[in-house]
Amino acid sequence: MRGNEIRRRFLAFFEDKGHLHLDSFPLIPKDDPSLLLIGAGMAPLKPYFTGKVTPPCKRVTTCQKCMRTGDLENVGRTARHHTFFEMLGNFSFGDYFKKDAIHWAWEFLTEELHLEPERLYVTIHPEDEEAYAIWHDEVGVPASHIYKLDDNFWEIGEGPCGPCSEIFYDQGEAFGTDPDNQMGGEGDRFLEIWNLVFSQYNRTADGRYEPLVHKNIDTGAGLERLAAVLQHKKNNFETDLIYPLIEQAAALAGVKYGEHEATDVALKVIADHARATTVLIGDGVLPSNEGRGYVLRRIIRRAVRQAKLLGIQEPVMATLVDTVIDLLGEGITDLPGKREFIKTNAATEEERFQRTLDQGLLLLQQRLDDLKAEGATVLAGSDVFKLYDTYGFPWELTEEIAAEAGVTIDRDGFVRA
Ligand code: SER
Repeated sequence: MRGNEIRRRFLAFFEDKGHLHLDSFPLIPKDDPSLLLIGAGMAPLKPYFTGKVTPPCKRVTTCQKCMRTGDLENVGRTARHHTFFEMLGNFSFGDYFKKDAIHWAWEFLTEELHLEPERLYVTIHPEDEEAYAIWHDEVGVPASHIYKLDDNFWEIGEGPCGPCSEIFYDQGEAFGTDPDNQMGGEGDRFLEIWNLVFSQYNRTADGRYEPLVHKNIDTGAGLERLAAVLQHKKNNFETDLIYPLIEQAAALAGVKYGEHEATDVALKVIADHARATTVLIGDGVLPSNEGRGYVLRRIIRRAVRQAKLLGIQEPVMATLVDTVIDLLGEGITDLPGKREFIKTNAATEEERFQRTLDQGLLLLQQRLDDLKAEGATVLAGSDVFKLYDTYGFPWELTEEIAAEAGVTIDRDGFVRA
């Protein structure tokens, strides 16, 4: 089942259950200083959850553009880390609660997507007897498939939060048999595909948890993960939502995906970052030296560097952006109309970086060689600063390249410089 169809079916399923389908909100949060970028389907809906604003309908469904940059370095190295991804969600603002949320999630997965019930596992908060009873007594999930985990409590910055229940898909022993391969672990065998949050508290700016006037439902299912499961792919990057970008980058570089680990990581980083670049610029973020613009700058420069490492000489960003828009345009409907604007801005930033990249890399390589010869392992803050202000290297990029050579950077020295 193609990614576009999963998205369509999810939204139609919840429309049938009385939900209003709203378009994705932009990645730039509105009136929410606690967030730099929208990172969950519920984030733009916070005022509806807290009751500050009356929602257009008590039941809403969305496919929300999300950005998470907390673990940028992991992107491409794992099967499921992304910067940009799409989150499918159904939401209740003081309307239905646990019972319907759980029953509908199960119905969608088993009757609409036809996932085998034997492969599904759920986790709940240890004190959530109600969720246990619904999963076990009503839905019929055997006790052996229900795990109680202390950290099943979901929150993001200030705002609505609460205990949650996650649904996992068992991808089988081929995905690993080590002990870390459990619900909530880092392994890939049990893949979390949906999180149902029973939002009943409001976290205040000073960290208190106030009970909300009415109870809410906030669910999130990663579109790319569902696609990986339904398309029997071993990672999200190989799904039809992303793979054409990998093929495109591989063709430009004259390499093949699936032959060398390092090449694959580079291709995945390029694919991921091309998607993020496209959607960020589409939402009006432009490269700069602070805030959201800096996130975008870092992402574009990481992608360009990986393209270089693969041996690609010509500019890549505009070409990749075209493909991203072809892939995502059905779900993110305002992208096609912004095609030229996005391509121009991505290409300009790439050119800007290209002009100094080679010189900067040369300088950095020399310094790393010197350090190696001296047996030292810390790059001076003044070097990191020179790369930053003269060659346009975000310090995190220098840190990453240095780390590949077993060298750390003097961050305090950089800040002082
Ligand atoms: N807010 C929850 C999450 O992001 C469920 O949507 O996982």
